[in-house]
Amino acid sequence: MTSTPAGSITVTMEGSNKSTTLPLLGGTLGPKVADIRKLYGELGIFTFDPGYGATASCESTITYIDGDEGVLLYRGYPIEQLAEKSHFLEVCHLLLNGDLPNAAQYEEFHKGVTYHTMLHEQLRRFFEGFRRDAHPMAVMCGVVGALAAFYHDNLDINDPRAREIAAFRLIAKVPTIAAMAYKYSLGQPFVYPRNDLSYAENFLYMLNAVPAEPYVSNPILARAMDRILILHADHEQNASTSTVRLAGSTGANPFACIAAGIAALWGPAHGGANEAVLKMLAEIGSPENIPHFISEVKDKNSHTKLMGFGHRVYKNFDPRAKIMKETCHEVLAELGIKNEPLLDMAMEMERIALSDDYFISRKLYPNVDFYSGIVQRAIGIPVPLFTAIFALARTVGWIAQLNEMIGDPEYKIGRPRQLFVGAAPRNVVPLAKRG
Ligand code: CMC
Repeated sequence: MTSTPAGSITVTMEGSNKSTTLPLLGGTLGPKVADIRKLYGELGIFTFDPGYGATASCESTITYIDGDEGVLLYRGYPIEQLAEKSHFLEVCHLLLNGDLPNAAQYEEFHKGVTYHTMLHEQLRRFFEGFRRDAHPMAVMCGVVGALAAFYHDNLDINDPRAREIAAFRLIAKVPTIAAMAYKYSLGQPFVYPRNDLSYAENFLYMLNAVPAEPYVSNPILARAMDRILILHADHEQNASTSTVRLAGSTGANPFACIAAGIAALWGPAHGGANEAVLKMLAEIGSPENIPHFISEVKDKNSHTKLMGFGHRVYKNFDPRAKIMKETCHEVLAELGIKNEPLLDMAMEMERIALSDDYFISRKLYPNVDFYSGIVQRAIGIPVPLFTAIFALARTVGWIAQLNEMIGDPEYKIGRPRQLFVGAAPRNVVPLAKRG
């Protein structure tokens, strides 16, 4: 453990004379954490925290979020600076290895990733088993999980070299798989990766190139894609990352763990929100319908949410949303799009929501997904692919978190407890005698 002692708290059980003193742990940043591990042994009680909103499940050195201040740091570096001054593969090196690479380290890392961009030819046949209208996330769950069937040499998570190669393979192949899922849905030929292009350019190339036409890459759009990848690369212990850690805690192989993360990311409350934002904007249709939609959101019985708003940790502007909004304007300017009705509607929605007491009192601000869908649509990404791109970007974060867990000498299988509220013990009555 690298946390430091930071005092203690005493817990006393009302109505009994039992009490215990629990250590408080301090990290580099953020609130102190009560170490409750001996609570059950000493007082016979568990803690209750559905949704884990108040529970630190691990020590981590990777990503720090200050939700009240709207701060996001990868390994100490502010997300704004990384988005401006670095590229996605540098950020991958940072997340995996703890620091930004120097030129020689970058060269080696870049080679390590690009060496693995192609898929085993036999994997191509997997795609034919899917319907053409399959959601790309369904294809990603299946094909990424299936990588374990091809790389038996990478399945031992306790072997650091096997983990390193699995990391390269996953980071390199996930864009190829996402692009193939899209090409398959169109009925177009798969496009093999090009290692002379940057990571983001190569992904756009595999999505958009066709054998019949020359392909011209647009550096502004490639930069915007790169930025989307940086912004989504890690976000500490969110639902999909915790899923990856939990799956990995059983000793499952890295390909299976990342497939589990992709499944968890798919939900509309998590990575699926970017797709849901565009659907929501399309359904609202035009700005004059926004007030009615907002009143529906505020009506508890409607179960309608303002997608792209709110966050478990950010109770202030999501810093990624700010960068995404700027990127959105840059991309539209580059493409010469003066009027983008969806962007106009999103900005009007943001204006109305941020002046409405419902959202102000609940500290609901736009999150990264509010603008990322609009940027992706402008780049020419089809809506069903949005969440797959989130998965593509987050793969490196999941691997970094998985590796960190495996390297922690204190890690053990994840196994939460419960507050049982079901039936007390009772006897089985034979079927014939049951009333
Ligand atoms: N629209 C309307 N009301 C909301 C929203 C929203 N988007 N988000 C939260 N609320 C309300 C919620 O109903 C509750 O109200 P009340 O106190 O009256 O019961 C209050 O705000 C607190 O919300 P919560 O459900 O306790 O918050 P949570 O931390 O459990 O949920 C969230 C966080 C992201 C799941 C939720 O805000 C949400 O569903 N947002 C929309 C989906 C979305 O945009 N997700 C992307 C998150 S960022 C990218 C990622 O991490 O994947």
